[in-house]
Amino acid sequence: MSNPRYPLVLLPTPCHRLDRASAILGVELWIKRDDLTGFAGGGNKGRKLEYLIGQALADGIEVIVSCGALQSNFLRQLAAACSCAGIHAVAVVMEEPFEYGPAPFEGIGRENGNVRLDQLFGLEMVEIENNTWDHLFDEMERVASEFESRGKKVMRIPVGGSAWQGAYAFAEAAEEVREFGFDEIIFASSSGSTQVGLAYAFAGSPTKITGIACDPEPELPNDFANLAADLDAALGRSVGLQASDFHFDLGYVGDGYGIPSEAGNEALTWLARTEGILLDPVYSAKAFSAIIDRAKRDELPGKILFWHTGGVPALFADHPSGVN
Ligand SMILES: Cc1ncc(COP(=O)(O)O)c(C=O)c1O
Repeated sequence: MSNPRYPLVLLPTPCHRLDRASAILGVELWIKRDDLTGFAGGGNKGRKLEYLIGQALADGIEVIVSCGALQSNFLRQLAAACSCAGIHAVAVVMEEPFEYGPAPFEGIGRENGNVRLDQLFGLEMVEIENNTWDHLFDEMERVASEFESRGKKVMRIPVGGSAWQGAYAFAEAAEEVREFGFDEIIFASSSGSTQVGLAYAFAGSPTKITGIACDPEPELPNDFANLAADLDAALGRSVGLQASDFHFDLGYVGDGYGIPSEAGNEALTWLARTEGILLDPVYSAKAFSAIIDRAKRDELPGKILFWHTGGVPALFADHPSGVN
């Protein structure tokens, strides 16, 4: 397997106990700080991009085309990684991609936040009307083909960096925490490479890997299983994870993807005021709301790790109503 790596992030990220939160919640709670990667505002995508950009450079890629929500954390980090590597980054975006029809409430806002940083990092953004995720993927393909028809060597990176290289990065990241002996690792899950990588590395071990859904899509574990099969193929292994092997908790999504939830906002405020740690309203706050809820129900036995996947710049997106 050839898996070239382009260094971007400071590893290992810190992993530490949350003393005040543990005392108040009555649990043994630790945190893995992928919000502190030291790269482009932090977040779980930096790890994935080391391998995705490594591949792009090895293949002599001139243009990377991807897609996502307007306030995507992945696109912000992709833009920065591409600037560092001298590759042109293009992203097709929608303010609110959806799966089952438009959500009834507004999302986190379209100005500032990640969008401001995308401009700083030099991302070429192609914004289209709100529509389904599948429509977004089709538009991404159209834009990529256009660049190819102009003679450019193009790499397509799926939403969230969830190609096998992204999952590989998280299988590797798992080794940074194995020695702590956690009973459960809990984190925000969406395009899947974070969950696939961690589940892959801990397959057959007593450590439970729990992704908290940020999209209201119960069928996402089928995509996770496909990604795990791609990882198996790339590594020449046969871990053979199936959709049913993924613990994907849909209980904390709220009204939809990109729509902050009341419990998520409460969790965000609580952690900020208890530990001085910032979360984001779309992903990590919803995941942390699961921790608070399960702690209150006495459903968090043992030593628990919250894997902070970043996203903090989204906190600074301007919402038309003034609240996120
Ligand atoms: C802050 C944050 N947390 C979690 C996730 C989900 O990670 P994954 O796409 O690997 O499932 C994302 C994805 O965009 C994210 O930006």
